[in-house]
Amino acid sequence: MNKKLQTSFCGIQLENPCILSSASPTQSKESIAKALKLGWAGAVTKTCAPDNLLTADVANRFAVLRGSDGEIAGFENIEGLTQKPATYWENAVCELKQEFPAKVIIASIMADSARESWQSLARRMEAAGADALELNLSCPHFRLSDNMGAAIGKSEDRSATITAWVKEVVKIPVIIKLTPNVNNIQDVAAAVIKAGADALAAINTVQSLMGVDIDTFEPLPAVNGCSAFGGYSGSAVKPIGLRCVAQLAQITDVPIHGIGGIEKWQDIVEYFAVGASCVQICTAVMLNGYQIITPLLQGLEEYVERKELRSLQEITGAALPKIVAREELNMQWSRQSTVVAPEKCTNCAKCLLVCSESGKAAIRFLNKKIYVDQNLCDGCSLCTHVCPHGVLALR
Ligand SMILES: Cc1cc2nc3c(=O)[nH]c(=O)nc-3n(C[C@H](O)[C@H](O)[C@H](O)COP(=O)(O)O)c2cc1C
Repeated sequence: MNKKLQTSFCGIQLENPCILSSASPTQSKESIAKALKLGWAGAVTKTCAPDNLLTADVANRFAVLRGSDGEIAGFENIEGLTQKPATYWENAVCELKQEFPAKVIIASIMADSARESWQSLARRMEAAGADALELNLSCPHFRLSDNMGAAIGKSEDRSATITAWVKEVVKIPVIIKLTPNVNNIQDVAAAVIKAGADALAAINTVQSLMGVDIDTFEPLPAVNGCSAFGGYSGSAVKPIGLRCVAQLAQITDVPIHGIGGIEKWQDIVEYFAVGASCVQICTAVMLNGYQIITPLLQGLEEYVERKELRSLQEITGAALPKIVAREELNMQWSRQSTVVAPEKCTNCAKCLLVCSESGKAAIRFLNKKIYVDQNLCDGCSLCTHVCPHGVLALR
């Protein structure tokens, strides 16, 4: 165990920054135990609700967006909450804490708008030994018509009220898991912090519609011909997660769990740089298994050594001073596209096409050799992104 990867939030020590987020990979005591043995520092249990609110799940409930390389870039789910009763989770939390006292077990809960529903679940999970509670005010598809999940998290008032109810009855830290599906995540965060939230977690999934079958017009994932707006996750949502965490860190010092699209150790570093104290991961685990923890930790270890950090926490918020309003950016800063690897050019002319139609028509091919007219190029960078071979770079 590398001490430099240890981190903490609300006085709770984590042996490394990686926590399994509340989702299918934390759907049972056994699955969580397996992950903890492989090196995860902790887990957030699959969201539990009062028994009278549990519903069966739908089949199928996942759909994916693939990049042109065939890899899954985005993942949509219309999964419900746990179907296990609260007593199951009380026992699971208690037994996991006994078996893994050094690991962090966070109980995720959700209820309707009844005070007693929230307070009873919160008391029970605290009594079972949970290190902290995470209030799921952010699921974008579960029983919104009953004012649950994101229906709460979209309202500053409701979010604050529920946070205060839970804070009234427990002593363990209360983390509020926020939805990105709001006009201003800072307003909701400010409201729950005022109501006593000890930490924030962001983001839950982004509301989405994965696609439509163009023959049957069934939306995807289709459940007997119909679907519902679902929750989008995976690497495609990382920019939204980073943006939300940065916006939260801009207004508060309460610890933030960074979530959304983390697949590689570099993603974790980025979340720390915009203000996270630890991270939670779901989709990458669903697609590749718990064992991704090994390359994640190895990459982080090499990074802290290379950067000569005493602790990964040293970089928390390091990028924040550099996130400014667009009008504060230096308009005089000049960069231009430059041919840096001419030998790799295959004359596919993709750069020429995009620059002539969406850029400043600065690219030329003379005798099958590529040139950039520096008098025309204004450094937009489009050609560098579409070139499949790394021929061009901004200089
Ligand atoms: C299949 C699936 C089920 C999920 N279930 C829950 C849940 O029960 N409670 C919750 O708070 N978040 C749930 N989430 C959201 C994740 O915990 C996480 O916030 C989101 O997927 C973004 O992280 P990722 O890109 O690493 O997956 C679920 C996500 C997926 C994909």
